[in-house]
Amino acid sequence: MRDALFQTRITELFGIRHPILAGGLMWLADANYVAAVVNAGGMGFITAKTFPDFKDFEAELDKAQRLTGGKPFGVNLYMSVRPEQNADLPAQLEIALDKGVRHFETAGLPPAHLVERIKDAGAVVMHKVATVKHAISATGKLPLDAIAVVGSECGGHPGLNLVGSIVQAPLAVARVSIPVVIGGGIGTGGQIAGLLAMGAEGVLLGTRFLVASEIWSHDRIKQRVVDADETQTALVLASMRNTFRGIDNETTRAIAKLEASGVTDFEVYRPYVMGTAQKEAYTEGDPEKGILSMGQACVFADRIEPVDAIMDRLVDEAAAATGRLGALAASARRAAE
Ligand SMILES: Cc1cc2nc3c(=O)[nH]c(=O)nc-3n(C[C@H](O)[C@H](O)[C@H](O)COP(=O)(O)O)c2cc1C
Repeated sequence: MRDALFQTRITELFGIRHPILAGGLMWLADANYVAAVVNAGGMGFITAKTFPDFKDFEAELDKAQRLTGGKPFGVNLYMSVRPEQNADLPAQLEIALDKGVRHFETAGLPPAHLVERIKDAGAVVMHKVATVKHAISATGKLPLDAIAVVGSECGGHPGLNLVGSIVQAPLAVARVSIPVVIGGGIGTGGQIAGLLAMGAEGVLLGTRFLVASEIWSHDRIKQRVVDADETQTALVLASMRNTFRGIDNETTRAIAKLEASGVTDFEVYRPYVMGTAQKEAYTEGDPEKGILSMGQACVFADRIEPVDAIMDRLVDEAAAATGRLGALAASARRAAE
């Protein structure tokens, strides 16, 4: 693990060496992966929705505790627009708090009741949004410790406005007073140094880690991520006001066809967007099956390797970028002498 390069309010809040967070990943962010991120000096979030059976969820938290040797790790609580999918979240939050989890990433609809409970328990909460407008609104309403703003390059749900991270980062920092974490399209340390220079205090990655050895998905899925360049993601479901970015595959092309023909009944889309199809795809190694979240940072995910190797590369690149800025400034000073 590399030495700490940057200290920010985010490294302090999350008790981590590097200001690098690995966002929740449906089906994939389990104890093995999250512990690997934590042991490499970052913060990861076990995705509660992946473990609908409470006993399995508890076992996963116990496992993460063992694998991290008691270091802090996080839990992701995603509030869906479909209320029936959120019924278990309060109970899962209680389980996590009982198990001593003190770091949470919330996402989706503003989760007022969850945030209040997290703060009552003295824990840390970062809420994740897709636009600066939502960041301003959420920080105005909720007692958050940090806000993550994820640009349109991201895998999963980039929101409806589709503004990229390079625009959102300085705007969010200017308009929000709590620590800002930027996500969406990040896969190099140069980007990380740049975002910190813009005032972000941490970065949030998802796609870049999809090729980590500790992620349990079939190697054929990881290889698809390695092979993909930045043009090979698909944006679908904007017509359902639930825009999604993922692997450009047979499923997203079928959805795009339905959208182009004007289908507005969600029931027609349901078989294509079912979470069970994703799980099968990851298990069987079939990248054509289901909608599989992947962002444009796939272009930086160039080989399958352990999380700590990815993390070391990110930190080394961030150090090189910082050194480059120092050298450019020194050369300007010399020229002025
Ligand atoms: C495969 C995959 C699954 C994801 N699942 C979730 C999820 O269940 N909950 C959530 O809040 N975010 C989820 N995300 C979003 C990530 O946590 C993170 O915000 C996003 O990946 C950052 O952008 P990037 O993909 O460009 O790195 C997912 C992303 C990917 C790639």
